Amino acid sequence: MPTILAIESSCDETSAAVSVDGKILSNNIATQAVHAQYGGVVPELASRAHLQNIVPVVDTALQKSGKILQDIDAVAFTQAPGLIGSLLVGAEFAKSLSLSLNKPLIAVNHMQAHVLANLIPDKKPGFPFLCLTVSGGHTQIILCKSPSKMEIIGETIDDAAGEAFDKCAKLLGLPYPGGPLIDKYAKEGNGDRFEFPEPRIPGYNFSFSGLKTAILYFLMNAGKSLVYKENFAATEAAQQQFIKDNLADICASVQKRIITILLNKFSKAATDLNIKDLCIAGGVSANSGLRTAFTAMGEQKGWQTFIPEFQYCTDNAGMIAITAHYKFLEKDFSSLTIQPMARGFE
Ligand code: KG4
Ligand code: ZN
Repeated sequence: MPTILAIESSCDETSAAVSVDGKILSNNIATQAVHAQYGGVVPELASRAHLQNIVPVVDTALQKSGKILQDIDAVAFTQAPGLIGSLLVGAEFAKSLSLSLNKPLIAVNHMQAHVLANLIPDKKPGFPFLCLTVSGGHTQIILCKSPSKMEIIGETIDDAAGEAFDKCAKLLGLPYPGGPLIDKYAKEGNGDRFEFPEPRIPGYNFSFSGLKTAILYFLMNAGKSLVYKENFAATEAAQQQFIKDNLADICASVQKRIITILLNKFSKAATDLNIKDLCIAGGVSANSGLRTAFTAMGEQKGWQTFIPEFQYCTDNAGMIAITAHYKFLEKDFSSLTIQPMARGFE
């Protein structure tokens, strides 16, 4: 019946959660707004914001859970992968707490935690299951044999799916992070209006860099075709007008292509490995189009599909807590000399 306090600080969300026996009592997330004006996460600013946020975020997580520090049986934190300056803040905070409370420390891998977010609800997938983890930094198909035994069977060879959403959004003049905005505009649009290419990559690997280039040329050509002459300023203006007039259809078409790239590979892996429990995880699993298409795929093929609640899709400490819960049961503790790492599980 362990009570766990978990901390996540790998990128630009400072989060703390409290779990009791694998049930999440609180999952408090502070999103750092400072990065939007720069069009992406600025590592130095992220570390500073984590430093400012961490005490109040942990405090609120404890208050919401109704627990106090003395109730905690173990302190968990994200050890890798992530921005090193961001990871350091959570790691050192967790180590200090573990030392002062004299309770075990549990180091958690962020990618493993995204997968295990699927074990938070009462209705859980059975082992082995396949998980499509799609975030801003990763796109992986993972064969999950137990909470601690995972194998990457496919991954992106260039951009991650979230990066593809964000870069395409940037080409459309949308602010960072553009993924949720593409999702929003796509709801009003026709995804069959514009056709973007599907890359031919062997096995279960993905590639998204070609899509970004295809959209770049598509927008440039749309601008040119509206002007009929080589006038850069007029072409640029026409391109902006074209985007404005067709934003919903472009977003829906981009989103549809990203989803088909993801689900075609995921479905191939499930068929080949004969696995019938399928999960999605990571920030992009918050995408409403992906959630709908994934569920429909499961219904059509007779597979059970699992999707974490929204709050457990993007970066959050709830998923760190559930992973730490299973590590606690296996007495998989860390020493206070453990260091965070920018890379890992890749
Ligand atoms: O897992 P996450 O919160 O952080 C990383 O570990 O990367 O994922 C963030 C990514 C961003 O690229 C963001 O644009 C994308 O997830 N994302 C979405 C949606 N919500 C977040 N992409 C598409 N549709 C969404 N609704
Ligand atoms: Zn993440």
